[in-house]
Amino acid sequence: PVPPMRIAFDAAAATLSPEGPTLTRRMSDLEGLFADHDAWRDAAEGENPVVYSVVSSPVPEEDRELPQSITTIQPGTTGGEFWMTKGHQHPNHQGEIYLGLHGAGGLLMFDGERTEWIDMAPGVIGYIPPGWAHRSVNVGDEPYSFLAVYPGGAGHDYGWVLEHGMGHRVIAGDSGFSLTDYTR
Ligand code: 6PG
Ligand code: NI
Repeated sequence: PVPPMRIAFDAAAATLSPEGPTLTRRMSDLEGLFADHDAWRDAAEGENPVVYSVVSSPVPEEDRELPQSITTIQPGTTGGEFWMTKGHQHPNHQGEIYLGLHGAGGLLMFDGERTEWIDMAPGVIGYIPPGWAHRSVNVGDEPYSFLAVYPGGAGHDYGWVLEHGMGHRVIAGDSGFSLTDYTR
């Protein structure tokens, strides 16, 4: 266990202090996510941009702890689909909360049958109930950041999303975004 601690966060800069591990996901890390596989491969083999990064607090991912992290998704589209996180299911089906910090995004959830979408913005809490796979999407033209708080023993199952999909895709349109069906 870690001692009680004070952790400062800067919503505009999307930083935590003190800071733990940081994860960066580039386009090449996102194979199988975008419907347009050719567009994905061109981007991955070309500039291979950073799509999102996750900075964690020093609280460990261990049972009974409550770690936090800030995810920042850069603005962009690939094959007409807004940039997004890989998305995952928590293997022991634990809940999680997100707090919007900066920019305009969305929280896409899928329980294997039903899809839910929550518009995320600064000041909005998105609640992920146990058993709902979740993916975050940047639907704006600036970076989208949110704080996540989750049970340390929750784990991350990425294979579930690759196998079952997320129910819908988030497509860029003339006036913002729309959700379209997909089963994979
Ligand atoms: C979590 C949170 C969140 C998430 C990141 C990156 O359970 O830790 O849902 O911190 O991991 O937003 O998304 P992916 O884990 O799906 O890449
Ligand atoms: Ni999660």
